[in-house]
Amino acid sequence: MRHLLAVEDLSREQAERILERAESFAEVGRRDIKKVPTLRGRTIISLFYESSTRTSSSFELAAKRLSADLVSIKAVGSAVDKGESLKDTTSTLSAYDPAAIVIRAPQAGAAKLVAGWTDASVINAGDGKHEHPSQALLDVYTLRGRLGSLEGTRIWIVGDVSHSRVARSCLLAFKLMGAEVTLCGPPTLIPRGIADATGVAVRYDLDELAEADVVYALRMQRERMSESFVPSLREYAARYQIDERRLGPRQLLMHPGPVNRGVELAPEVIDSPQSLITAQVESGLVVRMAILYELLAGSDRARPDRGPAPAETPPRIGQPA
Ligand code: CP
Repeated sequence: MRHLLAVEDLSREQAERILERAESFAEVGRRDIKKVPTLRGRTIISLFYESSTRTSSSFELAAKRLSADLVSIKAVGSAVDKGESLKDTTSTLSAYDPAAIVIRAPQAGAAKLVAGWTDASVINAGDGKHEHPSQALLDVYTLRGRLGSLEGTRIWIVGDVSHSRVARSCLLAFKLMGAEVTLCGPPTLIPRGIADATGVAVRYDLDELAEADVVYALRMQRERMSESFVPSLREYAARYQIDERRLGPRQLLMHPGPVNRGVELAPEVIDSPQSLITAQVESGLVVRMAILYELLAGSDRARPDRGPAPAETPPRIGQPA
């Protein structure tokens, strides 16, 4: 695997390999010295054109725990402010011969473009409304930690599906792992034709929410809305907010964060024992370590013209840095 651009491109075998690797990295996180030398001497560039707390911090920490050299760039305060294009920024950063570029950008397809302009492995950390593959992998990892398997698990993804890259990546990843996915939200926030295109069920109200094993609530992406898709947030919350009345005692609750408290989720369910929101953040670190490992040190990492891949030496997960 050279890049991680979209769940759409992932085979189940590739996903399984990343998830198994993440389990082995969980052990590293329990040590006093939470660091292994796997990527010593390799450079990773984190390039975020959109705001982020979870994805940027976990990729940066993952790179550090693998002993890589990390350069972290946010659009604000960089040459992007002076009008530098994505292509020129990629060329500039590629001059440092990075092993990987992690990119978040507001344009769908930005990560794929960057992959065409650099020799580095590219990881899509969210491109507009398109995909957020590492989020989907960490969500699968989190659920498998609770349920063992997703085979036959009924997962409802509730909220602003139209503007959500998380919804797109998650529905593909959940289906890849054998789950039954239902999308639910106002008709204005569910893409037309998505049921036929992806094989998921669609509901426009929460009347049958009790059938779900997992309720995955989405953030209202107001920054991506150019018009009004719901009459008001108050009305949206009245019809679609997950609260303790709607969340059954055996149902698990997920949300990618950041949460709009009191909009898509009521405060009491965010902090309930059924909530996996903190577990999702914890999973983000080990899954992103596993993604970096898979792309930069994994067994099928091809490095034409660049000498042998580190994978040709035995993996060194177990040794302290
Ligand atoms: N879930 C997610 O992508 O969160 P951040 O925007 O904080 O990275």
